[in-house]
Parts: sequence; structure tokens; C-alpha cells
Amino acid sequence: MTSAPAKFILFGEHAVVYGQPAIAAPLSNLRVTATIRKLKDQQQMRLITTGENESLPIDIHLEDVNSAFATTARLVLDYFDALPPQVEISIDSQIPVASGLGSGAAVTTALARAIAEAINQSLPDEKLNQIVFEVEKIYHGIPSGIDNTVIVYEKPVYYVRNHPLELLSIPKPIMFVVGDTGISASTKIAVSDVGRLHKAEPNRIQPILASIGGLVNRARIAIESGHIEPLGHLMLQNHALLRTLTVSSPEIENLIEAAIAGGALGAKLSGGGRGGNMIALVQADTAENVRQALLNAGAKRAFITTLGE
Ligand code: PMV
Repeated sequence: MTSAPAKFILFGEHAVVYGQPAIAAPLSNLRVTATIRKLKDQQQMRLITTGENESLPIDIHLEDVNSAFATTARLVLDYFDALPPQVEISIDSQIPVASGLGSGAAVTTALARAIAEAINQSLPDEKLNQIVFEVEKIYHGIPSGIDNTVIVYEKPVYYVRNHPLELLSIPKPIMFVVGDTGISASTKIAVSDVGRLHKAEPNRIQPILASIGGLVNRARIAIESGHIEPLGHLMLQNHALLRTLTVSSPEIENLIEAAIAGGALGAKLSGGGRGGNMIALVQADTAENVRQALLNAGAKRAFITTLGE
């Protein structure tokens, strides 16, 4: 069996597409698993999804360039110069789709690892990261590469597009509550809308993106020095800039207000926006209160996660 985690973006989404830094971390308790079952001779490699997104088995046609599953299989098999194994791969995901938690990249990562396992190989993380990035293009259009990086390495990262990986050290645990609006939203559409805005009004949008980058760098210093007091305010500032980029939504605003009223130190949307998930910075004695406040305000689910433990 192979697996991969969900992820969340702490700071810098959208601006990261334009070369600004961003910070993201894995959510190791929320995972996709892939299990291999050998098929009889002559049967074609196929995929089945179980759990919430249950499906019938589908054959994987390697030549289908529009299929994320087939592309994953083809890239893995090409790398090892191997023939398709006669296996059924069953994918079970706990990660809600289209909600900013990296479900697509996690499924691709677990699937690629499973296909490698089925041919008795193991993919180096660097190669796996390249493969997942290629497949992300099918889901996202122009991904920055942050989702695949944080999910493949399963470590908190400070990420700048086309720059070598920088892991983030977290000397003092930081607690967040992740709240789901329950609204699924396409990252591809949100990213292309920001792209249109950027093209139409570069003089207004470019400084907003640069300001987000500045907040990310201040957040990094706060996190790595263990002085997390400024983080809440930085999150609220980052969120206000994301709102200007048109990627918030009434449901996200509602959950952010509820989190702050419930005692959170700061909150913002996380991921592509327009729905999906938001995050709130909390302390041990306010975490449960904030989680309840989010559920009372209509969050579909809310859970507490701690970084740096
Ligand atoms: O996959 P999501 O919804 O978490 O969004 C990824 C973050 C974006 O910055 C909006 C897009 C990207 O490719 O970096």
C-alpha cells in the first residue's frame, strides 16, 4: 500500500503563481491510500476508487493524454522503461475534492507510488515531484508547483517557483483550525481569473502580489524564530489582499468572522479560494472553541492541526 497526505497553504497562494514565495504544510492525518491487487494474465491495468468517491473499475489507456490517471501511469512506466503491470489499483481518499487541500496532487502521488510498487520499483522523490507537477497541469492549467512539492516531500516548505526546495523549520508548535465551507470551487478558474485581472490592470495587481510576498517573508521569520505573535495579523493582511484579487467568497468571509469572534488570532482562506477551506490560527486553550464556532457558523467540517510537533 502507498499513500500521500493532504496539504494546506499558510501564506502566499495565487501570488506564488507569479514568482512570489509561499508557505505550505502537509496535513498528515488526512490521506489518500492506494492498494494494489494482482490481476489474472491478459487483464489490463485498471483503477477503482473506494470510500466517498466510489466508482467501478476503469481501464487505464496509457495513450489518453487528457486523463490524469493515464498520464501518471505513462510517466512512471516510461521512467522505468517498464510494461504496464497487470494490477487493479484501488484509491481511497479522505481528502475532499476541489477544496484547496491538494486532493488531485495527493491522488497522483499515491497512484504513482503504487504503480512503481507494482513493478517492484521505488520512485525517487525528485522524479516523483516532476511527475506530479506534469499531471497537475491537467487539473490546474498553470500550477506553481507548490502542491506537488509539499505533498511529495510531506514537509512544511517555503516555496518559490523554479527555485530549489527550502524546508521550513518550526521550533515551536503552531495550532490551526481548518474549516471547510463545503463549497467546491475550481482552482483553475480562480487562477485564470486572477491572470485576467493581472493582464488588464498590471499597475494595480503587481503591487498586491508583491505585498503578499512581503507578508510571506515576515511570516517565515516569525515561524522559524518561534515568535508566532505576529502571525495572526499577517494572516488577516494576506486574506485582505486575496479578497482584492477576487478569490474570497461570502462563505469564506462568514467562517473567518466566526473564527475571530470565537477567539482565533487570525484567519484567511487557504488554497484557490472562492469556497473550499479556510484556516484560523489558535492557541491550545481556544482551539476547540474556534472549531465549534466554525461548525456553528455552517462549516461542513472543522479540525485542529498542529505544525512542528
Ligand atoms: O490546489 P489549491 O486550491 O490549494 O491551490 C493552489 C494554490 C494556488 O496558488 C491558487 C495555485 C498554484 O498553483 O499555486
